[in-house]
Amino acid sequence: MKTEITNPFITGGYLSPEYFCDRAEETKRITDAISSRRNLTLISLRRMGKTGLLKHVKFQLEHSKKPFAVIYTDLLPTLNGNEMLNTISSALYRVRKSEKNFLEKMLGFMASLRPSLTMDPLTGEPSIELKVESSSGIQSGLEQILRLISDIKQDIVFMFDEFQQIGKYPEKNIEPMLRSVIQTYPVIPFIFSGSSKHMLENMFMSPGRPFYQSSELMYLDRIGTDDYRIFIKENFRQGKMIIDDESIDKIFNWTRLHTYYIQYVCNHLYEKGGNKIGERQVNSIFHEIITDFEPQYISYRNLLPPHQFRLVKAIAVQDGVMQPTSGEFIRKNDLTSPSSVSTSLKALAEKEMIVYDLNRWNVYDVFFSRWLEYHYKE
Ligand SMILES: Nc1ncnc2c1ncn2[C@@H]1O[C@H](COP(=O)(O)OP(=O)(O)OP(=O)(O)O)[C@@H](O)[C@H]1O
Ligand SMILES: [Mg+2]
Repeated sequence: MKTEITNPFITGGYLSPEYFCDRAEETKRITDAISSRRNLTLISLRRMGKTGLLKHVKFQLEHSKKPFAVIYTDLLPTLNGNEMLNTISSALYRVRKSEKNFLEKMLGFMASLRPSLTMDPLTGEPSIELKVESSSGIQSGLEQILRLISDIKQDIVFMFDEFQQIGKYPEKNIEPMLRSVIQTYPVIPFIFSGSSKHMLENMFMSPGRPFYQSSELMYLDRIGTDDYRIFIKENFRQGKMIIDDESIDKIFNWTRLHTYYIQYVCNHLYEKGGNKIGERQVNSIFHEIITDFEPQYISYRNLLPPHQFRLVKAIAVQDGVMQPTSGEFIRKNDLTSPSSVSTSLKALAEKEMIVYDLNRWNVYDVFFSRWLEYHYKE
């Protein structure tokens, strides 16, 4: 059912399976874990497709013969335990709002937390806001939410997207609290997801941490080239456009096969139109994209300390570096010493400007990387 939108390459959110490429095995692995009531944690680089995959699984579960109630929450915008509770309660309300008297029941149940129903002024989506004064308020809020849920006569699954965010809250006891409340409801599977590999691995794999071994870890990799090629060709074909294999390979290379960037390039190519897409059209889209983003990249250049900028530039120009502390790399790029490179590497990784992936350091934002390469490669 692709009638209502014209461009099949979406670059934000999830629409329906028609716009979603592959991920069949990954979808099965997650739905299997859910039906066996196992917890699972999905980890990948930014913009590889975790949220899309969770929404795809949600879609399948909601449209199955025995539909699940899927409570999906994105914790990225939340800054403390109170906001986390608001997000979870709002997600629960959105899933159950068609049930008779659910709102009254929910407000009654949570009365001690002074709940109120508000409407998002931009999206019109309803949300619940609570006023929590102490950490015991957060604990009782969580317990009340789970008690409300256990009354639901339907299979339930919780999805916590950007779960590492809880590690940044000022309250230090959210992690053990969440763990102990969750543990009381072993019949509800929890799916966690996030891009901070380091934080999530620490949370789930360090003995002594509350969530230790409470969830299986799943690393989301790139979509396979065969599946992506078919998806791209078929979508262009339906728009009466033909794209050749060399052009698709070129896109795969240039985007490092990173989902968001492939979608973005294809979206723009599709928008340009034309019956045949070849090298010339692809090169011109690459150029257009990096030019569009240029003001942002110039501001990165102004904001980064000079040594860090030299390092980012050098990494991009080489299209990834295995040993940035090697003497040759340092000399060639005027990077002073191994210790200053180590310091800058650490700072840039913390800012998510660079990332270690496929055995090398890369500039995280692929378009920024290509812009640097284009401007600074000799
Ligand atoms: N299987 C897919 N087929 C087509 N497009 C996809 C697929 N998976 C993700 N996308 C698209 O790629 C982009 C990035 O995906 P998504 O937001 O799911 O990544 P993410 O890993 O959650 O990123 P972040 O870490 O920034 O939250 C989105 O625009 C999404 O629509
Ligand atoms: Mg996401």
